[in-house]
Amino acid sequence: MDRYLVFGHPVRHSKSPFIHTLFARQTQQELEYGLAEPAVDEFAQALRTFFDQGGKGCNVTVPFKEQAFTLVDCLSPRAKRAGAVNTIKLTDDGVLLGDNTDGAGLVADLKSHGVTLADSRILLLGAGGAARGALAPLLAELPSELVIANRTHTKAQQLAAEFHDLGPVIAQTYEQLAGSFDLVINSTSASLQGELPPLAPALIHSDIAIYDMMYGASDTAFISWAKQHGARQTMDGLGMLVEQAAEAFTVWRGIRPGTKQVLRELKRNLGVI
Ligand code: ATR
Repeated sequence: MDRYLVFGHPVRHSKSPFIHTLFARQTQQELEYGLAEPAVDEFAQALRTFFDQGGKGCNVTVPFKEQAFTLVDCLSPRAKRAGAVNTIKLTDDGVLLGDNTDGAGLVADLKSHGVTLADSRILLLGAGGAARGALAPLLAELPSELVIANRTHTKAQQLAAEFHDLGPVIAQTYEQLAGSFDLVINSTSASLQGELPPLAPALIHSDIAIYDMMYGASDTAFISWAKQHGARQTMDGLGMLVEQAAEAFTVWRGIRPGTKQVLRELKRNLGVI
């Protein structure tokens, strides 16, 4: 049977095996999907061993995405732009192809929630790996402006300069942010520590859409905060998780699974509904 897995550390709580097993059942594909948690300095060897032993493809998550970028034989354009690889496929020619489906997953999830990206003014919080992966797919949707704000302003400036050729992207400090945004995407890891990015409450209004790439059994700190300040449409990163997985499954199997029912089952599994 074709074998796939996700590499990460820690990875024990990953929902990827759950999601891909449901995709496989739904599309009647014969495959198995497991977990691998190599020591941080043993990832390269573990990856090689997996493919030497007949593995067909894998996902890569924290903290291995940047390393995976350097280990594959060739890169998709979107992985090259993201500077990170979350999906690897062994092609029929024996080549390890590195791809990145995170940004496509974010855009697919935003669209499935009815969020309009074309001509919208988007605020992206954070300038780490998650922000980098999102930029090209977001700019491809032709927003009127995309503003990056980050605690360390120089990192936001670097990202804006790097993606400038793809669309109207600028960097501003949190203090400089002004005017009306249609969508705020939180790509910071602040919620992990129960912290909030230092965003002025005045930027939140009832017609704004709020997206937190993090998720949990209850609202993230950022989503709770935005709701308190009047945001009516809030979304967490669970949908992005399922959508990036669907995109990876499509890369591997050439068949696109449906995501709605799988997202529902995942929520039930996590006790969210
Ligand atoms: P990831 O790959 O998940 O993006 P990362 O590369 O470590 O992780 O980036 C984390 C992002 O969250 C950074 O933009 C970080 O800001 P700095 O560049 O200033 O470190 C941001 N971040 C983390 N904690 C934060 C907090 N409490 N408030 C605001 N931003 C925070």
